[in-house]
Amino acid sequence: MQFRLSEEHEMIRKMVRDFARNEVAPSAAERDEEEKFDREIFNQMAELGLTGIPFPEEYGGIGSDYLAYVIAVEELSRVCASTGVTLSAHTSLASWPIYKFGTEEQKQKFLRPLAQGKKIGAYGLTEPGSGSDAGGMKTTARKEGNEYVLNGSKIFITNGGEAEIYVVFALTDPANRQKGTSAFIVESTTPGFSVGKKESKLGIRSSPTTEIIFEECRIPAENLLGEEGQGFKVAMQTLDGGRNGIAAQAVGIAQGALDEAVNYAKERVQFGKPIIAQQGIGFKLAEMATSVEAARLLTYQAAWLESAGLPYGKESAMSKLFAGDAAMKVTTEAVQVFGGYGYTKEYPVERMMRDAKITQIYEGTQEIQKLVISRML
Ligand code: CAA
Repeated sequence: MQFRLSEEHEMIRKMVRDFARNEVAPSAAERDEEEKFDREIFNQMAELGLTGIPFPEEYGGIGSDYLAYVIAVEELSRVCASTGVTLSAHTSLASWPIYKFGTEEQKQKFLRPLAQGKKIGAYGLTEPGSGSDAGGMKTTARKEGNEYVLNGSKIFITNGGEAEIYVVFALTDPANRQKGTSAFIVESTTPGFSVGKKESKLGIRSSPTTEIIFEECRIPAENLLGEEGQGFKVAMQTLDGGRNGIAAQAVGIAQGALDEAVNYAKERVQFGKPIIAQQGIGFKLAEMATSVEAARLLTYQAAWLESAGLPYGKESAMSKLFAGDAAMKVTTEAVQVFGGYGYTKEYPVERMMRDAKITQIYEGTQEIQKLVISRML
């Protein structure tokens, strides 16, 4: 058993931490306030190789592993959860299924520019009438000659509107639900593809979340990802890894809030001593730190399993379940440590608390994680 990160992982952590502090943190509050996505930050991540961490160099990646990837998402989320999820959705939800299920041509055409960060990726599964019940989708893909024609809409799309490449799920056999579902790669320039409503959200406000619409959207048949009828499994396997990315985001948010709370508690004096020396606050911080550490270990374990080629679906769901709850608890307590100041925008903990909530909801609600875990027991 080895609990120490390798030199490579430590190097990546240091690089991302420096980048996050110097380039991402300074604008985080303003981007949150203005609901503004900053493509320049994504471009800078691309230059550092962060947009293709776990993918081989032949596909534009840097040939590292999933542990390095979750460390990167964690460090970004520590200062800006929106930037963390931009990278997570791009890597886990869009690039990964192309890497895993794509043909060589698809990998060269779509994965390479994604991994290089020349293009942004997104994932379209959820629809207005099918959230947790992902198999209940209505979007269709009709085969006509050497094309598929897509009709329908998807909602809550992370990176929506900014992404150029979308991995989308649609029914090729509407009578057959999951077994009639297929996965497709859709480029944003395709006629019939459009971006609909942009959501105004409680948290992760500088990560765009939009509707995407398909109206007689014709894509080449070679954009089918995997086999016809296998799309639901592509969607589920993609989420198996994606959930670990969200766990990493949650660990980062929680660590960021803990950092802020500890620093504040050392400086804030009440009743003649720093509040960290008041047991009510000191014990709270001890519990927060313990939650963050436990969440991190579960998250790293799932990433390590995936990197080692071992089954990781259950552990990934566990990591998101635990880390999402930890992030919500730790950020709420961080606001409490700050008292009235924590409730203002003068300090980042209120943003972190708002950002934490989504980690209990997206890429499968906590209730869905419990369903997934219990089915594997
Ligand atoms: N890997 C491979 N195959 C899987 C699988 C997995 N993890 N999970 C299910 N399958 C297969 C099953 O084996 C089954 O195939 P067979 O019939 O051949 O055995 C098939 O898929 C259907 O599975 P289920 O019967 O389990 O399907 P279900 O309808 O009961 O649903 C569910 C299962 C787990 C509840 C699923 O619907 C689910 O995960 N729901 C939540 C959806 C979700 O997480 N949405 C988030 C969207 S992404 C997002 O949040 C936006 C963003 O951009 C961040």
